[in-house]
Amino acid sequence: VCEMAFHCVVLFLGMAMSTVYAQIPSTSSYGERGSDLGIQLFAQVARSRPQENVVMSPHSVASILGMLLVGAEGNTRRQILTALRYKKHGPYKMLKRLHKNLTSRENRDLVTIANAIFAQQGFKMEDLFVSTNKANFQCESKNLDFSDTSEAADSINNWVRDHTKGMIPTIVSSDMLDGALTRLVAVNAIYFKGLWKSRFQPENTKMRNFTAGDGKVYRIPMMSQLSVFNIGLASTPFGIKYKVIELPYHGDTISMLIAVPSEDSTLVSEIIPHISTMTIQSWTKLMNQRKVRLLLPKFTVEAETDLEAPLSALGITDMFDQTKANFKQISSEPLHVSKALQKSKIEVTEDGTKASAATTAILLARSSPPWVIVDRPFLFIVRHKATGTVLFMGQINKP
Ligand SMILES: *[C@@H]1O[C@H](CO)[C@@H](O)[C@H](O)[C@H]1NC(C)=O
Ligand SMILES: *[C@@H]1O[C@H](CO)[C@@H](O)[C@H](O)[C@H]1NC(C)=O
Repeated sequence: VCEMAFHCVVLFLGMAMSTVYAQIPSTSSYGERGSDLGIQLFAQVARSRPQENVVMSPHSVASILGMLLVGAEGNTRRQILTALRYKKHGPYKMLKRLHKNLTSRENRDLVTIANAIFAQQGFKMEDLFVSTNKANFQCESKNLDFSDTSEAADSINNWVRDHTKGMIPTIVSSDMLDGALTRLVAVNAIYFKGLWKSRFQPENTKMRNFTAGDGKVYRIPMMSQLSVFNIGLASTPFGIKYKVIELPYHGDTISMLIAVPSEDSTLVSEIIPHISTMTIQSWTKLMNQRKVRLLLPKFTVEAETDLEAPLSALGITDMFDQTKANFKQISSEPLHVSKALQKSKIEVTEDGTKASAATTAILLARSSPPWVIVDRPFLFIVRHKATGTVLFMGQINKP
């Protein structure tokens, strides 16, 4: 009997529900290292889908790789460490601190991160793999019978639905699982529901023109708010200029950054390769508080991304290869990753807190400030300020 390689299905799952404004931190933290890999991945995916809306969770990509890292050896491990710029020894202490920070009390009503590993019944995972993931990522480990693929898929989907408060009802279908070969499914779910620090008044939302990535003009609901925002003008090394606007969420720990080209002729794809956590940090110095009328599309985006090709392009290849994958710290049985998927969703609406609405009212009493209209394809980045972690990143070609 020849040696069988078992499937390891990896699912990355991110989701966000949000609603306006932002501020920045410093140094290359573990949150930033992981996010940088995720941002590069986003750039790969965006390049392959230049006309589409794309949303991803850079942090989720790093989380799953961090969980798998615990079980990886040899070149499989080296490739993950190199891509993430993690130190060879003891990255878990840093990752544990990051996870605690992101899920701390002050962020709790905004960010929920849930990790799980589902293993085939009777399949013995190494204790150290299970306990390290539990200690660092509060990762649940459960057994499932993958021989009944539809029941196994239901169990995973139920778990995901519960941990995303129903926002992502399904992630895996039974045909992604192999009754004979699947041994391990790792899931990371990020649920994010942000309320703007300063809300948009729904009655100010009007249908307006938006020139989409395909060059056509669409009528879309555009939110509007007169408020003080952090705004700046940034530039790529090639001199391409773009506006950056920060919209903080209530609590001020997380904000959304919007980047939109200054020139109508500039494509969003010309800015994307320039974005990294360092670029994002540099925006802080460029931005100033200004009173403007901001017009921003109301939008919902959902995207599913197969990460095998983009991860491979970034040098993480062995874990997908039956003959090369080395997960000996998970089990002595040969394992490889047969599927790497991420599903993310973000909703951007007017919602905000009452307290901040009052602030807006005061500003409305004053004269007519400049208008900032986001009516062209743009990028958004949802970022945890203290750690520089990028929770979500997306390009919107057509709201
Ligand atoms: C999160 O990390 C930042 C930066 O290291 C630190 O200043 C802050 O106190 C941390 N917060 C929590 C709740 O751990
Ligand atoms: C919106 O776009 C349509 C179609 O291109 C155009 O006819 C109309 O004048 C535009 N409206 C505004 C307010 O720019």
